[in-house]
Amino acid sequence: MISISNVSKVYSLESGDFYALKNNNINIEKGEFVAIMGPSGSGKSTLLQLLGGLDTPTSGKVTVDGVELNALNEKERTLFRRTKVGFVFQNYQLLPMMTVGENIALSLSANNTSQSEIKSTVQKLIVDVNLEGKEPQFPSQLSGGQQQRVAIARAIAMKPRLILADEPTGNLDQKNGIDILKLLSKLNKEEQITIVMVTHDLQAAQIADRIIVVQDGLIIDEENKGGYRNETVADRMA
Ligand SMILES: Nc1ncnc2c1ncn2[C@@H]1O[C@H](COP(=O)(O)OP(=O)(O)OP(=O)(O)O)[C@@H](O)[C@H]1O
Ligand SMILES: [Mg+2]
Repeated sequence: MISISNVSKVYSLESGDFYALKNNNINIEKGEFVAIMGPSGSGKSTLLQLLGGLDTPTSGKVTVDGVELNALNEKERTLFRRTKVGFVFQNYQLLPMMTVGENIALSLSANNTSQSEIKSTVQKLIVDVNLEGKEPQFPSQLSGGQQQRVAIARAIAMKPRLILADEPTGNLDQKNGIDILKLLSKLNKEEQITIVMVTHDLQAAQIADRIIVVQDGLIIDEENKGGYRNETVADRMA
């Protein structure tokens, strides 16, 4: 589903070239839930930005679902982001002047979806993320956990096959954090949405099938945790 081949991201600074990512190769399968861990400044967010077409690599190739991102022009890349990827960030990034419903509908509206379809989709998403009744409220009137659930509803509105989450539980207390992880896990298992989640929290990472470690711009370790995939096979055999 995702392949990164010989990918580097280099920033030219006065002091010389700085490699935020250095010649990395990884594959992530369809339906996988991958956690990315590593020290601050190691290149985790940079990696997510390349996967989501928010940024382009200095060299190397990023392919998502058969689409080679390098080959897209600006307009095509915007369309790719809007329709193929759901982004979730640590600070939710909701628009403060828009209601919960309008925030969730953002990418639908941008994609010329009809008003009636937007309405029914938003209704369904509100239920999915357990925010019934909150649709007319503004983000500032919600708790952090609720705001993050709005962000997740917005992220899945276009039915993306990939969710990129950058420390989605970073601003939340433990209970709200667990709720968000459960929601992501549910989307992964029930809708087979591929999820790549950056986290500092080893406990949060345990929810993933696999942990990828980034250090100094290098993907240095891959721990294959097996996880639910094996359970599913076992379940089917039982
Ligand atoms: N525009 C830029 N110009 C120069 N260097 C940059 C730029 N953007 C990022 N970097 C550098 O690239 C490196 C990787 O940054 P990145 O944001 O990917 O780190 P991170 O692993 O997500 O860290 P954190 O855990 O703190 O979020 C950092 O050392 C950062 O300073
Ligand atoms: Mg980061």
